[in-house]
Amino acid sequence: MFKAEVYSERRKKLKQLVKTGIIYLPGNNEAPMNYPANTYLFRQDSSFLYYFGLDADGISGIIDVDADKDIIFADDRSVDDVVWMGYEKSFNERAKLVGVTIVKPVAELNDVISKAVHSGRKIHYLPQYRAESKLQIEKLIGIHHSRVNDHSSKDFILAVIEQRSVKSDEEVKQIESAVDISYEMNTAAMKFSKPGLKEREVFGIIEGIASSKGRGISFPSIFSIHGEILHNHHHENLMKDGDLLVLDSGAESELHYASDITRSFPVNGKFSQKQKDIYNIVLKSQVESIEMMKPGVKFKEVHLKAAKIIASGLIDLGLMKGTAEDAVKEGAHALFFPHGLGHMLGLDVHDMEGLGEGFVGYDKDTSRSDQFGLAYLRLAKELKPGFTVTVEPGIYFIPQLFEHWKKDNKHSNFVNYGKVEEYIGFGGVRIEDDVLVTDSGFKVLGSKPIPKSIAEVESACAKE
Ligand code: GLY
Ligand code: MN
Repeated sequence: MFKAEVYSERRKKLKQLVKTGIIYLPGNNEAPMNYPANTYLFRQDSSFLYYFGLDADGISGIIDVDADKDIIFADDRSVDDVVWMGYEKSFNERAKLVGVTIVKPVAELNDVISKAVHSGRKIHYLPQYRAESKLQIEKLIGIHHSRVNDHSSKDFILAVIEQRSVKSDEEVKQIESAVDISYEMNTAAMKFSKPGLKEREVFGIIEGIASSKGRGISFPSIFSIHGEILHNHHHENLMKDGDLLVLDSGAESELHYASDITRSFPVNGKFSQKQKDIYNIVLKSQVESIEMMKPGVKFKEVHLKAAKIIASGLIDLGLMKGTAEDAVKEGAHALFFPHGLGHMLGLDVHDMEGLGEGFVGYDKDTSRSDQFGLAYLRLAKELKPGFTVTVEPGIYFIPQLFEHWKKDNKHSNFVNYGKVEEYIGFGGVRIEDDVLVTDSGFKVLGSKPIPKSIAEVESACAKE
């Protein structure tokens, strides 16, 4: 954990931002996998971790803004619990580690909330993503579970986003340590992949490294010869000579901060000329868009720069035509690059996405586009020092999207359909790094650069 003062300061700032009322922050419970006692790996709620730091199930926090009191509701383990799960220090002792001196039994939570409700005080809570938390709020506050999120507190949401978006030095260190685990995951995947293995044989090694070096994965790893499927969670394919792999994966640091790194590499360790051509376009768009990142620049502009480099490279290869400027304005590049350039990264891999992407990535000066491709951009607003962001352009040949566009001859001024057809079956290429916005520019996180140029990737693939 960070020092107790870190959590106390965060709660103090939150009280200043929210101004009045009671803040209710439920922690997560264990989630059953196939019967009640057989649970998924426990993951605490990220906002609970941010303000209360305790990584335990079944607890919750109240911050009484008006009375300036912070309370943790938690029950110590009974002797029976200890027999099965082991001894843990009392919550009275553990709460001190996060600067909280008032600990009450869980059974008293209902009383505290209902008193506040009856005296007409505002109860602030965040949008909930687990059914159990919605039911709990229904029980405590009396709002039907289907409408719980409609009544979440905008003041609380905006305060959390303001605080969590700007990472302190100690948070950046956590993210950087997760990126260093990603270095191990990616270089191992490059080393172990070879024709004749099934994807899952390497997938297991990658996820094992995340567990052995940190708190496990920050999201289920994408590892596939079908890199054109953006979020592909199937790992049953046989890897063959000539196939190209996409590995998009991340680890959690000791304190649950995420990394999110993507590399693309050939199963046989050597890029073909066709693979090199596409790879180098993605690489150029990634490197040059990162170079324009600094405070005051809108991430939407960084996305558009990456898109123009992709369009320009595809024009040079004969897959697109016209000018890159016009093609991107019309959205024709989205046949190949249909997703956004990146997202915030922190305690969540898509940081704070559960609070509402519109609040996290957009603001009054930046509205979401409805153009196919650009509409998926999760972060568009102006960058500030302390933001940590992923930069992850890609080029994909998606057979069904290609057929869909071709049927309507969509953007035929810009797409050379005859030439693109030759690339169906190619798969996809994505390259992703985690980038800190500094006072004057940017820093690509990680103490060792993860192989990225063609030469570096081929050399990592050749390691025995
Ligand atoms: N790492 C998966 C994604 O960013 O969507
Ligand atoms: Mn990502």
